Amino acid sequence: FGQNIHYEESVDSTQKIANRLANEDAAEGTIVIAEEQTLGKGRLSRNWHSPKFTGIWMSLILRPNIPFHEAPQLTLLAAVAVAQAIEDVTELTPEIKWPNDLLIKGKKVTGILTELQAESDRIHSVIIGIGVNVNQKLSDFPKELQDIATSLFIESGVSISRAALIQQILRNMEKLYHTYLQHGFSPVKLLWESYAVSLGKELKATTVNETIIGKALGITDSGVLLLEDKTGKVHPIYSADITIPRK
Ligand code: BTN
Repeated sequence: FGQNIHYEESVDSTQKIANRLANEDAAEGTIVIAEEQTLGKGRLSRNWHSPKFTGIWMSLILRPNIPFHEAPQLTLLAAVAVAQAIEDVTELTPEIKWPNDLLIKGKKVTGILTELQAESDRIHSVIIGIGVNVNQKLSDFPKELQDIATSLFIESGVSISRAALIQQILRNMEKLYHTYLQHGFSPVKLLWESYAVSLGKELKATTVNETIIGKALGITDSGVLLLEDKTGKVHPIYSADITIPRK
């Protein structure tokens, strides 16, 4: 990955550019990287704060030959690749909160946004957007994020080479992706579970329709979270905001 790099100083969103390139049949492994995003996109239509020179704002184009419903597996794969890269390059150990937030001491250090281009059940491309807070100081975050977000610099006290981290993310992604294409999701799932914070704990999932509180039993082979409520009923969660309720 990263043979084709589109590097930009300032863009609205690397996702937007990667979506356009994917439409124009860009090769698998093409990446778009920017120093700054003025309209960074987060999950669930949120914004993603992407100030200049401090983080990794990157989108990767994949073209796997998999059915539509398996695409969430690639989001989990990306979370593992970034978690490993953070471990490789720093002294820190991130945890993954389902589906794909990377946390350090409970604060968010990385977000991943996956978008699909598909026709009926055929995937044309998967755009994986990765945002890593690398060298921000606490005061670089807007007030409302200071309690919930962090950076590798804040947590480790040393500034980190973004280039080295990008290289390591791409190396890990490529390796895991090949494992995935050859052996399927189970080896990736095992790795994902080894980083997961939430398994076995009581979680609150807020979906578009309802709020479910239950114990996280694990994820299915397609990456769906299973929550068991007090009555013993198991709810599959496809997309939700997850919090850990206070006792
Ligand atoms: C989340 O809400 O947790 C996902 C955040 C994803 C942010 C990244 S930064 C690079 C790429 N371009 C975007 O506009 N968003 C993603």
